[in-house]
Order: sequence, then structure tokens, then C-alpha cells
Amino acid sequence: MSGGPREGRGAAGPRGAAPRPEGAPARQASPAILLTGVGKRYDIVSCFARLTPTIAVDPNPLAPARYAGTLAASAPPIADPEYVPALIRLCERHRVGAVLPLTDLDIEVLAIAREQGLLPALVPSSKVARATFDKYEAHLLLSSLSLPSPPTLLPHQDLQGLRYPVMVKPRRGSGARSIHLAANEDQARFFIDYVKEPTMVQTAMLGPELSIDCLGDLDGRCLNAIPRTMIESRGGESIKGTVVADEDLVDLGRRVMEALAVRGPATIQVFRDDQLGLQITDVNTRFGGAFPGPAYAAKAGFTYPELIVRLAAGERVQPHVGEFVPGTTFTRYFWQLELDQQLTPTGRDIVPGGPPPPRCNN
Ligand SMILES: Nc1ncnc2c1ncn2[C@@H]1O[C@H](COP(=O)(O)OP(=O)(O)O)[C@@H](O)[C@H]1O
Ligand SMILES: [Mg+2]
Repeated sequence: MSGGPREGRGAAGPRGAAPRPEGAPARQASPAILLTGVGKRYDIVSCFARLTPTIAVDPNPLAPARYAGTLAASAPPIADPEYVPALIRLCERHRVGAVLPLTDLDIEVLAIAREQGLLPALVPSSKVARATFDKYEAHLLLSSLSLPSPPTLLPHQDLQGLRYPVMVKPRRGSGARSIHLAANEDQARFFIDYVKEPTMVQTAMLGPELSIDCLGDLDGRCLNAIPRTMIESRGGESIKGTVVADEDLVDLGRRVMEALAVRGPATIQVFRDDQLGLQITDVNTRFGGAFPGPAYAAKAGFTYPELIVRLAAGERVQPHVGEFVPGTTFTRYFWQLELDQQLTPTGRDIVPGGPPPPRCNN
């Protein structure tokens, strides 16, 4: 199926900008936001939809986060030449001020469309998008910019000199798919052969893993960088973590954002290796596998969705790197939507009103 986007409003009906608090000055209506590949990211889509009309695009009608938008839309597959024209039509029809990808899959396509003046995509240059989608290219790019990346080799290279254990990782992996720890060169060779896609071999980090959730403006200036621990992750989604005031991480986040001139959100994953110090293992130039830092830890009025809506409206936002409230921990859980035979949300919930607030302390 290709051609124009298919659209549907959520069962809750159109939900535009949040009602204006009493006494607040009237503001010009903010531009809409278009999010692609929304998948299960109900929290992100909901935050945008509370601020401004939000179009949730996902090819899968069962993607739950489609239903959190003001409008849900399908688009042709990313590789289809009709993909970008379909997004352009949505942008024109709904006065979209920013397009943001929520998966790795279309960042480069959106970056090229931005460079051609076709879409207001909040993504880095196509060169950076391409390099950060390929983890070996990312390693070369980071190293060329004197940013710390663990020793990394390709399978045809001499693997003897590496510190073991190593990780065998797909170059274009995501969601922690097909990543294997190898204790020695024989095991590394086994996994290189076993994983049916191009791989690379990277020194396994010894020490805690952390992530830095960053936001860059339209000129690639870093606006903020909020680090968090990764207590538990599954399939690339962070399940538990604590926001930490770690100056080295804030500084590294800002340096990466500005060296790569990242427009929009990015999550930088690092390890604090016992011997090598901070090392960058993954750069995702989109909202990463957790959203609570940019939503809770940012100061009031400076959550990333609020800043993105302001950037989309053409406002200039002052950098405020390191300004956030650390110390809070988030722990995430599952909920679900019930859809009828036409895949329209029934509005029923297992508990009336949806997820109830916590009832007890500890
Ligand atoms: N060099 C490494 N040392 C130790 N663990 C690693 C290393 N690289 C990746 N991992 C683990 O695998 C997970 C996924 O790897 P990552 O490079 O972030 O790829 P992706 O998230 O794109 O699948 C990481 O969150 C981390 O827990
Ligand atoms: Mg990752």
C-alpha cells in the first residue's frame, strides 16, 4: 500500500493545546508537531499532545502511541519514494512546525528532506544521521573529533590486540538486538559468524552504564544535557534509572552535541570504565529509550517537549546546560488500550480513569 497518508482521530476526539490557565496572556496558537515511528512511546506523544496539536505516525495500527496523538496517521514504508511526500502533505495540512523521529529508521531520510527544504525535521545533518546509525562509523566520527569511544575493530581486522572480553555488536543494531559478550578471540569469531548482519567488535566496558538526554537547537547549540543512571534496561528501553548531577557527564553530553551540531533531542550512552574512564558506546539522535529525565528533571517550563514547541514556533531558546533537578528515580511499568473490532479505542480501562496515582509510600 502506498500513496497518501491515512488519518484517524483518537477515540477521545481532537485534543488541541491545553486550556489556557486563567489570567494567562493569550498566545498565538503554536505549530503542530509530527512524530514518526511512535510505537509504544505513549508518554512522549502524550506530553506533546498536551501542549499542541500532535500527529502520531506509525505504519502499525496496533502501535499504542498512535492513540495518544491529536491525530493518528499512517504513511508508506520509509524506503518508499512516497514516504517524504506523504509527510509533506501532513505538514502542509496541519501547519506542522517540527517533525521528530522516535526510531532510528528514518532519521537520515528526514535529514535529507530537511536539507532539501522539504520538511521542518528536528534532526542533525544527513552525514551525522548516517554515521550515528552505523556504530562503526560513529566510532570513527567520535574518534576523529577527539571524543572518547572504546577500541573498536571490524571482523577482518586483527582482533588479538583488544582487551577481552569484547562485545560483538551489529553495526546497525538497535534495541540491544544481537549483542554478544565474547571472552576471547575464538568466541568473538563464533559470534561474528553467528550474527547474520555486519558486525563490529568492541572492548566490553567494565563499569556502570549511564545515559545523557540532550537537546540541541536549530543551530546545533546544546540547550541542556541531563544524565541518568541505567539501573535496568530491556530491549533498548530504560526501565529504571536515577537522574544524577554529574558534571563530567553534563560536559561530555554538551561536547558531543556541539561537535556533531545535533539539532533536536539525542541520547548519548556511555560507560564509566574502570580503566578507560568515560567512553561513548551509542549516540541516538532522537529521544532515547527513556523520557523521564527531559520531562521531570528539567526545570518547570523547560521540559524538552516545551522547548521543542518553542523552537518549532521560531523562538530562540537560551542554552541552560546543567540546569535540572537531580536525585529523582523513575521506575516504568506497562499499561494497555482496549480496541474494538474497527481498532477504535473503547475507552474502557481495567481501572476507571486509567492508571491510578500511587496509593502508598514504600
Ligand atoms: N562496549 C560495550 N561494553 C559493555 N556493554 C555494552 C557495550 N556496547 C553495548 N553494550 C550493552 O548493550 C546495550 C545495547 O548496545 P548499544 O550499543 O547501545 O546498541 P543499541 O541500543 O543500538 O542496540 C547497551 O545498552 C549496553 O548495555
Ligand atoms: Mg543503545
